[in-house]
Amino acid sequence: MTARAVSSQSLEAFDAVDVIRAKRDGGAVPEPALRWMVDAYTRGYVSDAQMSSFAMAVLLNGMERDEIRVLTDAMIASGERMSFAGLGKRTVDKHSTGGVGDKITLPLAPLVASFGVAVPQLSGRGLGHTGGTLDKLESIPGWRAALSNDEMFAQLREVGAVICAAGSGLAPADKKLYALRDVTGTVEAVPLIASSIMSKKIAEGTDALVLDVKFGSGAFMQDIDRARELARTMVALGTDSGVATTALLTDMNTPLGLAIGNANEVRESVEVLAGGGPADVVELTIALAREMLALAGRPDADVEGALADGRAMDAWRALIRAQDGDPDAALPTPRETHTITADRAGVVSRMEALPFGIAAWRLGAGRARAEDAVIHAAGIDLHVKPGDTVSVGQPIFTLLADDAARFDRALDALDGAWSIGDPADATERAPLVRERITA
Ligand code: URA
Repeated sequence: MTARAVSSQSLEAFDAVDVIRAKRDGGAVPEPALRWMVDAYTRGYVSDAQMSSFAMAVLLNGMERDEIRVLTDAMIASGERMSFAGLGKRTVDKHSTGGVGDKITLPLAPLVASFGVAVPQLSGRGLGHTGGTLDKLESIPGWRAALSNDEMFAQLREVGAVICAAGSGLAPADKKLYALRDVTGTVEAVPLIASSIMSKKIAEGTDALVLDVKFGSGAFMQDIDRARELARTMVALGTDSGVATTALLTDMNTPLGLAIGNANEVRESVEVLAGGGPADVVELTIALAREMLALAGRPDADVEGALADGRAMDAWRALIRAQDGDPDAALPTPRETHTITADRAGVVSRMEALPFGIAAWRLGAGRARAEDAVIHAAGIDLHVKPGDTVSVGQPIFTLLADDAARFDRALDALDGAWSIGDPADATERAPLVRERITA
């Protein structure tokens, strides 16, 4: 594909149809053409119809490593690039590909910051069955997600951790393309997911990044092989851009922890910061903190000690206060609850993450459209996890809602989602962190 001579009709250097055809026919799109395609789409010259056709061609035919690098770079170039140089601390961020009950950012950011490392955590709101970090934190009275770049910088200097909404100036090309992919069946392409996530993370200007790439029924990628491919692609993109990047592949077949929702996930995070909390949430928080601290040059940091002696809790309280929240305020509680109990004795053998995520969403914990509000008190409290022994009548989980009319639809989603088996058939829980991917 060659640049066209500039005609009197068009000052554009390439033709979108040529770019689409090249990818449709399985070829690699040359760098100048790919950069132009992203830029022209952001400007509105390339239409949604053309870009969705291109995205489908990428989904069907893939992209070479170099094409993914160029695509990511072009999306970064579409907006502002932040820089934390001058902060005087190393910056390290974490990104999770999302799951059910995934509240790890809440204890993790203050935990890592308690070691003097800066954690600029630009987060999002939830859509569909996976929750959003900002929605969870907004359960805390007064807490504010929108910070200016100056406020963010000052908080990183003084508190060490900040969790806030990503400004609209970061990778606007991705914003437009992601919305288009959402309605054209083209979300699930590894090159598009990897470039979408990494363009925002690289533009954010962090020195280092740890990726929590989930696989299983509650994850974006059901299958571990596809999750591995995504993780490797993202680690390569980060590394090629000078961001020290590693990834953990983690199991999302079962909800993380015992709380699924917003306010209840904040409560559970505070338990972890107080040195308690469910074993799986603690395990993943510690594993990710170790990765982040190793990349920040603190491989020997006593992570468990900071949870046990209150240093991480102090950093949490400072973070919440710095964003106008009250760490001592009561969190919202639901008006209605409905508890499901065991109808037989045995061992809980299965709790499928996806249906629990959908049920929590139907109870009001999540949103169907970006403009919807979430109900902070809604969600599900689990009372047991796979591997736990139960007797007849023992509570298994409690649905939380502001309106009891929501319970039936939530229970429909949970039909067949969990089971109790014979103790003799009980198997060992598979490890939560399955693999570590490095450059
Ligand atoms: N999250 C993103 O930011 N982009 C994707 O494509 C998928 C998940």
